[in-house]
Amino acid sequence: MSQSVMINDVGPRDGLQNQSRILTPDQRLKLIRALNLAGVEHVEVGAFVSPKAVPAMAGTDLLLDALAGDKGTYSVLIPNMKGYELATAAGADTVVMVLYGSEGMAQANVNRSRAQIEQVTEQILVEAMQDDVRVIVTIAVSFECPFDGPVEPLGILEMAEKFLDKGAAEVVIADTIGAANPAQVRSMTEKLLERHDFERIACHFHDTRAMGLANVFAALESGVRKFDSSIGGLGGCPFAPGASGNVATEDVVMMVEQIGFDTGIDQLKLAKASQIAAELTGNVPGARAKLWLNRHLGIV
Ligand code: COA
Ligand code: ZN
Repeated sequence: MSQSVMINDVGPRDGLQNQSRILTPDQRLKLIRALNLAGVEHVEVGAFVSPKAVPAMAGTDLLLDALAGDKGTYSVLIPNMKGYELATAAGADTVVMVLYGSEGMAQANVNRSRAQIEQVTEQILVEAMQDDVRVIVTIAVSFECPFDGPVEPLGILEMAEKFLDKGAAEVVIADTIGAANPAQVRSMTEKLLERHDFERIACHFHDTRAMGLANVFAALESGVRKFDSSIGGLGGCPFAPGASGNVATEDVVMMVEQIGFDTGIDQLKLAKASQIAAELTGNVPGARAKLWLNRHLGIV
């Protein structure tokens, strides 16, 4: 099993999409660069979605332009074919397309049925193959939906298998509202890792009920080595009632490093990135590790 853990910071997308303060592209860039300076090489920088639906993500093309040539993987979320076209025209080489574990969430988020979204995703995968673009497929509400309730795990496993077979580079199991518990996560990830290469499976947890880190640990024990997390625990979906921030990058990094994994991330510099997130948004809800670092290492 690999001793490296890959952290993908989704704060600039999952975090900033849900703030009352809308940041300028330059402010978003400042946060992304601070993350990169801390050694976070994978960042979800924004989204190509309707600016009417999510005003905070407007201008993601400017970010990709500014980051072109910088070391790192800068992915962007897309909801449909128009998003794919806009993202690739702006130079994206990694896109994140979202599928749904429930019908209610698909309708609330993108106003389409799951079948419609799956069909578009298949078309995107075909185009992306020709364009040499990596497609990460995130399955939102993989455990529970705020509208339809608990989600049947078998359907999620089948969806993951189908889209990995059709060419998705990775499948991300997302607990969009933070409803999963570690036993469910262990069961789901064990089954996924039995069938798929660990490099193609990632997890995305929200910390609504303080189970985020426990869920990361459960997935780690199954062999998952890729996690989405968010600087300062920013996050939440504007269309998913009750969703709170993602599990904080600072907390995930501190835990996995202490139990013997390597993330390549400098925790002190990460605390500085978190400080920047706090200054910019005025609302950094999570990251207990940052308080520890500040107190014990005398930084910031
Ligand atoms: N990027 C930018 N604009 C887009 C777009 C995209 N990916 N997809 C559609 N649009 C525009 C259309 O051009 C149209 O513009 P107009 O009103 O100026 O003509 C408008 O959005 C509506 O298009 P339509 O296809 O009818 O979409 P809709 O109203 O059914 O909304 C989505 C569907 C997907 C565009 C919208 O719900 C959305 O962007 N959702 C994003 C949700 C999100 O980001 N959630 C959080 C992350 S999981
Ligand atoms: Zn999320």
